[in-house]
Amino acid sequence: MDFACNSSARLNCYKINTEDTGGNIDMYSDKVMDHFQNPRNVGEIENASGVGTVGNAKCGDIMRMYLDIDDNGIIQDCKFKTFGCGAAVATSSMATELVKGKTIQQALEVTNKAVMDALDGLPPVKVHCSLLAEEAIHAALWDYAEKHGIKIEGLEKPKSDISEEEVEEEY
Ligand code: FES
Repeated sequence: MDFACNSSARLNCYKINTEDTGGNIDMYSDKVMDHFQNPRNVGEIENASGVGTVGNAKCGDIMRMYLDIDDNGIIQDCKFKTFGCGAAVATSSMATELVKGKTIQQALEVTNKAVMDALDGLPPVKVHCSLLAEEAIHAALWDYAEKHGIKIEGLEKPKSDISEEEVEEEY
């Protein structure tokens, strides 16, 4: 799978607008807007220790996460690229910040809820977007484990389509 444009390019053609928010831009916290407008760690890592790509078949959005993990199992760097909505960009940006410098086990604790808390929340209609970042990190860790022939305690084989596990949201 190839990405025709990276997150920055995506940002150029995507705006958080009333259609995206369901009619109210105030639904987004200042932190979400900051990470959407100034996403951290966009790009890719050459010769990454692990790379994970996941998608949401319902909306068609895709996320790819790159991890650089040193010999002590510390995540030295993390970058992402996406064809994702604004909420996916913001949650991925925050997720990369949260896993950098962490151990693999600590990275597993960076759930979509932890990312949303760090962003001061997301509108209910956008909660599913935060799953892309969590699953992409898991997929990258899975790739790292496979390359090194190890098993990471608590890590399950990632889904390529996160919409399989989405629950119906109440509006
Ligand atoms: Fe697809 Fe947000 S609408 S990830």
